[in-house]
Amino acid sequence: MHAVGIVAAAGSGLRLGAELPKALVPLAGRPLVCWAVDTLRAGGVAQVVVVVPADERAAFAAVLAADVVVVDGGATRTASVRAGLVAAAEDADVVLVHDAARPLTPPDVVGRVLTALADGARAVVPVLPVADTVVVVDEGGVVTDAVPRAPLRRVQTPQGFDRATLVAAYAALEDDAEHTDDASVLRAAGVPVHTVDGDERAAKVTVAHDLFLAELQT
Ligand code: C5P
Repeated sequence: MHAVGIVAAAGSGLRLGAELPKALVPLAGRPLVCWAVDTLRAGGVAQVVVVVPADERAAFAAVLAADVVVVDGGATRTASVRAGLVAAAEDADVVLVHDAARPLTPPDVVGRVLTALADGARAVVPVLPVADTVVVVDEGGVVTDAVPRAPLRRVQTPQGFDRATLVAAYAALEDDAEHTDDASVLRAAGVPVHTVDGDERAAKVTVAHDLFLAELQT
């Protein structure tokens, strides 16, 4: 099975409060994007495409290995992944899409996603249970409902897909459609999305506190 990885790294990092694009922010001295590329490689992905902010291309190329394909991203994550998909090798059987913002994802998670794809799933996401009580609030901040948490899951990356199925699902999307992950694009196309165990270490770095916690784990 030939796997290609797409690392979505074109976000701005506004919520992190960094001067740099988030994916270039260092963790233990190395940019987040380098950690994400290494995870995919260590987990068994042959080729990696990194999607970057168009005006930061040179800065990304300077820190990535020469065999990593660098492409310009778009205004939304959905647009960025769409751009990465165009650059992903057509001879790949499967595509894994990963957030640069999840630097400490263990390669085992990649392995579980690849195994599920090899077993015949067309779309696979790593998930974790929800520990907190989840409620719905109205505009005034008053709780109006509680959501049973037993069937709820938090969705992580890398998310894995049969390449042709992923390409078809993105082709069927409206140009300006916006999804927060790729499995929701597949679900919109009617493709069943399977789950494997995620890992707390695959947590997303969004705000400064997340980076602080990640530093403690390196
Ligand atoms: O914004 P959010 O935290 O959901 O971003 C998840 C991932 O998507 C990050 O790794 C970010 O770099 C990437 N992204 C992107 N293009 C955008 C916005 C986000 O590649 N326009």
